[in-house]
Amino acid sequence: MPLTSSPIGVFDSGVGGLSVLRALRAALPHESFVYLADSANAPYGERGDAYVSARTHAITRYLRDQHHIKALVVACNTATAAAIHEVRSSYPDLPLVGLEPAIKPALAVTRTGRVGVIGTRGTLTSSKFGKLLASLDGQARFVVQPCDGLAHAIERGVDLPDPAPGSAVGATETGALCERYIHAMGAFGTAPGQIDTLVLGCTHYIFVEHELRTLVGPGVQFIETGEPVARQTRRLLEAAGLLRAPVQALAGAGASGTEDDAQDAPETRLLTTGPVAMLQAGARRWLGLPADCCETVSVP
Ligand code: DGL
Repeated sequence: MPLTSSPIGVFDSGVGGLSVLRALRAALPHESFVYLADSANAPYGERGDAYVSARTHAITRYLRDQHHIKALVVACNTATAAAIHEVRSSYPDLPLVGLEPAIKPALAVTRTGRVGVIGTRGTLTSSKFGKLLASLDGQARFVVQPCDGLAHAIERGVDLPDPAPGSAVGATETGALCERYIHAMGAFGTAPGQIDTLVLGCTHYIFVEHELRTLVGPGVQFIETGEPVARQTRRLLEAAGLLRAPVQALAGAGASGTEDDAQDAPETRLLTTGPVAMLQAGARRWLGLPADCCETVSVP
């Protein structure tokens, strides 16, 4: 039985889901988190559904059995597309939040009626995404672009410095890939016929926001899912009676005898199946967390 003080599990194929963890930590500051990056097996985007589904099941089991998570956020569009329905039916009591490219919210933002969507091949060719797109048929023109190799390049470049101001976007591996895919999508801008809204359908991509912004120009809106996912997680925890109160409030509860009275301050633990240095670099760079939050684990 999970307690309100149990951690929320968050997982991704690699460091991309740290963007979702950042939003979760901001929205739920009293909660503990255990994040798992399956970096030994990343990227998921070009692996195929059977593989991604098997990994998603193994990681869910590991986080539930070893870390007693009270809820799980699948901070990976690719894993959500491949496996969320099965995980939901295997663990009906586990509050579960998945991610999908935010193309519905993009409809409320676009003025030109042209919306770009970038994501992994796994996500964008999934039947789940196909159904979502079909449900919005006729409401906008969607320009859908799988970005093979981009998530992997972001993983590999996690410890590289930010590009120097004024340097050519194509000078780095991630920049060259962004350039190739953005150019393939057509014209971006706010004039009629141009793409004025770009949906980031992979949790890694916000970490190349600078490169994408340089390529599409200042008027284009980016839509990502960190904050809505954090709000949905809060709603689910509230509904399940599992939202954790601030530690001070609990300490003040004194002799009430609840299981949470003795709880420690919330903590964030970061686990990876791959090289710990990669996760440490992402944790430091994007969340300001120290290296000792991170460790390597085995999830067969
Ligand atoms: N970050 C992941 C997503 O949101 C997957 C990237 C990958 O492993 O290909 O889809």
